Amino acid sequence: MKPVLKWVGGKTRLMKKIKELLPDKIRNYHEPFFGGGSVLFSLEDKITGRIYINDYNKDLINVYKNIRKNPRELISKLKLLKRAYLKSKDKRAFYNKKRKNLNENKTFNSRRAALYIFINKTNFNGIMIKDKNDKIVSGWGQHEKPEIFKVSNIMKVSSFLNTRNVIITNLDYEKSLKKAKKGDFVFMDPPYVPDDITLWKDRYLKQRWTTNDFERTFDVLEQLTKRGCLVMFANSLSSMIRRRFSKDKRFKMLKVPIKRTISRNKKARVIKHEVLILNYKA
Ligand SMILES: C[S@@+](CC[C@H](N)C(=O)[O-])C[C@H]1O[C@@H](n2cnc3c(N)ncnc32)[C@H](O)[C@@H]1O
Repeated sequence: MKPVLKWVGGKTRLMKKIKELLPDKIRNYHEPFFGGGSVLFSLEDKITGRIYINDYNKDLINVYKNIRKNPRELISKLKLLKRAYLKSKDKRAFYNKKRKNLNENKTFNSRRAALYIFINKTNFNGIMIKDKNDKIVSGWGQHEKPEIFKVSNIMKVSSFLNTRNVIITNLDYEKSLKKAKKGDFVFMDPPYVPDDITLWKDRYLKQRWTTNDFERTFDVLEQLTKRGCLVMFANSLSSMIRRRFSKDKRFKMLKVPIKRTISRNKKARVIKHEVLILNYKA
């Protein structure tokens, strides 16, 4: 299975390292900041218990719920969109029209899910930027022949969500983690610490993350540790992360160099370090 959406902060490039550092056995699995889901989709065989996925973004959750409920309906809507896009003479205008349709569609249904996938795959780098009125304003990505979706992958994801009875929620992460019990594995991948993001911004939610938001994720990590959950926490190597974790013996902090390619501007393709913080021995 592959992610269905392109997502800022997607972990595909870190997967090798993440896999090396997983606990030997994973019973129940929680991913409270699910995003594109690159982690779960590449390690689902390892999980033997229940799977809980959560994200605060309503559109994202609407996409997964529609993939689970009626993948064929979603696929037929996507096929129509793709065909019309490939045929259209002015692809930018077609994109802008569909973005307008998405912003005007007030119900979270299969039409909205199809439009969301379409915009995500034809805009610039999958970045779903919103303005202060919660409207998506991401520009056209100049793709002439985008893949947009793969029927076989959507069907695999759908069957996985159904057969494994995955619990999908649209809550704040702290609330979604109330169900995490001793021995459960939690992969926490919140938006990045802002002092590290000077060249690009997390704008996939209307509200920006502040220092207080990060303090809260650290508190939640602390609570989960006390509860006996096994947690892997991913972020960028910022001064805030260094201050909080470098001297606390209960956590192991691993640095992973990574090249970000979020901007068209070549200067913005800089090498940064990501960190994986573990509260267990790997
Ligand atoms: C770095 S991304 C996760 C990327 C994901 N691991 C992947 O591979 O695509 C962070 C996610 O956190 C979500 N998010 C932000 N604030 C949240 C909150 N308070 N509760 C739950 N999810 C939240 C965002 O919508 C976004 O999808």
